[in-house]
Amino acid sequence: MAVDLLLGLQWGDEGKGKIVDVLTKHYDIIARFQGGPNAGHTLEFDGIKHVLHTIPSGIFHEKAINVVGNGVVIDPVIFCKELRNLEKFNIDIPGRLLISRKAHLILPTHRLLDAASEAAKGKAKIGSTLKGIGPTYMDKTGRNGMRVGDLELDRWKEKYRALANKHEAMIHFYDVDIQYNLKELEAEFFAAVEALKKMSIIDSEEYLYQAQQAKKKILAEGAQGSMLDIDFGTYPYVTSSNTTAAGACTGLGVAPNAIGEVYGIFKAYATRVGSGPFPTELFDEDGATMARVGNEFGATTGRPRRCGWLDLVALKYAVRINGVTQLMMMKADVLSGMEKIKVCTGYHYQGQQITHLPYNIEAENVTPIYKELAGWQKDLTGLSKASELPETLNQYIAFLEKELEVPIKLVSVGPDRTQTIER
Ligand code: IMP
Repeated sequence: MAVDLLLGLQWGDEGKGKIVDVLTKHYDIIARFQGGPNAGHTLEFDGIKHVLHTIPSGIFHEKAINVVGNGVVIDPVIFCKELRNLEKFNIDIPGRLLISRKAHLILPTHRLLDAASEAAKGKAKIGSTLKGIGPTYMDKTGRNGMRVGDLELDRWKEKYRALANKHEAMIHFYDVDIQYNLKELEAEFFAAVEALKKMSIIDSEEYLYQAQQAKKKILAEGAQGSMLDIDFGTYPYVTSSNTTAAGACTGLGVAPNAIGEVYGIFKAYATRVGSGPFPTELFDEDGATMARVGNEFGATTGRPRRCGWLDLVALKYAVRINGVTQLMMMKADVLSGMEKIKVCTGYHYQGQQITHLPYNIEAENVTPIYKELAGWQKDLTGLSKASELPETLNQYIAFLEKELEVPIKLVSVGPDRTQTIER
């Protein structure tokens, strides 16, 4: 099989960027298939921390070609900032970064609409990253969107104007106080569009088909996580794309029977940023420890992430929906020093005990049922071999593998590339 997938199984921020970076040496092509600059993929090596939003996480490897697929939404302004951050690394951008003609563009007014929609929702807000993701995907499915390929048309600005005018009318409709200077935003946008037009713009589905024919190895890089999937996540507190395995087929034009390994990434505990149900969320000292030791702040927005115990009900659901073939457990080091570790194995729901994910997992509907396991005291951050892992961590891993019925092939013990243990 030519195409492997790498996906987050929780609410995003599992550490996908680090793992793509670690795995890239085995691949010829890294391809992003959904989401946009709402993502913040953090990579650390040689003492430097890099955060990518739109550009795939294989960009730092000389041999890898990086593809921004048709399912991605691109904000030219943010994209150009990312390019500027990469300038000092002397990367052959035109040679190593290819962009799909069919990817949709985030307009400045999409961002404003996101803000207006969230303000209008008040307490019920999604907690969006305010990058314009929802409104851009709305225009895509509403068949009104602008795509990268449109920029090659002579009259693309007319199309832009018509859409931006419509957005302005919609912003007024929301009747909320949103301050903006569209002229300034547009000047920045148009300058960024000119830079985007100079990129290598391709028919990515054709490129990827030819790459498969030529037996190139492709890794599809997911953004966000399964519990934020537009269909299978905790709707409406989700993002606006399919973050699950099927999203890679539609977001790249790859056939389902071309998919090989499905790498599922999860943290040894759970986090969520933004609003929405989170049954195992902690409001105590253990949650505060996870947040502090795990440095749990959003890579895109800087917002503190909510923390809690691992929820096996949700994780099993994600493993099944994605057809995960290998698991990778991140941030095991963060739990070091905890005497007891809890794992949610079921929910009390409407007077019953259940082990599947029900339609509604709001706190008033479900109460987690926990199994307690012994913690590990050893600092893991300097370890490099599976044989060095403490016994109680091995027991934790064995318990999860038995429950999830998928092997945990990799344990991450710190943010750096080198802090990665294969099993
Ligand atoms: P949006 O995708 O910006 O519309 O945000 C929708 C929801 O998804 C919010 O709860 C965000 O916090 C969450 N979200 C979006 N992108 C990410 C991500 O990359 N990591 C974690 N949460 C995200």
